[in-house]
Amino acid sequence: MSSPTIQVGVITVSDRAAAGEYEDEGGPAVKKACEERGWEVIADSIVPDDLERIQTTIRAFAGQGCGLVLTTGGTGVDIRDVTPEAIRGIMRVEIPGFGETMRMRSLAITPNAILSRSLAAIVDTALVIALPGKPTGAVECLEFVEGAIPHSVKLALRVPTSC
Ligand code: MTE
Repeated sequence: MSSPTIQVGVITVSDRAAAGEYEDEGGPAVKKACEERGWEVIADSIVPDDLERIQTTIRAFAGQGCGLVLTTGGTGVDIRDVTPEAIRGIMRVEIPGFGETMRMRSLAITPNAILSRSLAAIVDTALVIALPGKPTGAVECLEFVEGAIPHSVKLALRVPTSC
């Protein structure tokens, strides 16, 4: 039996995009990458770099049936970069291999990849992956971990499966 389509929520985390000071490019780039993979984007939002807004949106998307929630932005070391803290504050468990892989593979492209605190975790019934904010960086990182996404989403949704 073929696997069900992965339902995705995409969250752009950016003070300036949320305020309309610049056009969001990260969210559309991530959405396009999802669609190219045959995944269905059922929810999207632009939120400021605010811990509670990020947490509320992730949980709302998980509640709407997103097995995968992708955030883009706020993974760096700026004073307002709180995406990792927001996710860690509500996760059941972190999956360190995602962050390790995204950084390791990205370092072959740019030394600045070391600045991203990108990660993945299970929140409620969703796999949440925090991607960097730069559109090309976000899509690259998604590509580096995509092989593990279908199985991780199944586990997050608690569909019985064997590893
Ligand atoms: N990873 C990849 N693959 N490509 C990139 O261009 N940019 C880096 C890094 N990771 C980058 C990347 C840079 S410059 C920063 S500052 C960090 O991601 C954090 O970005 P964020 O705060 O927008 O999430």
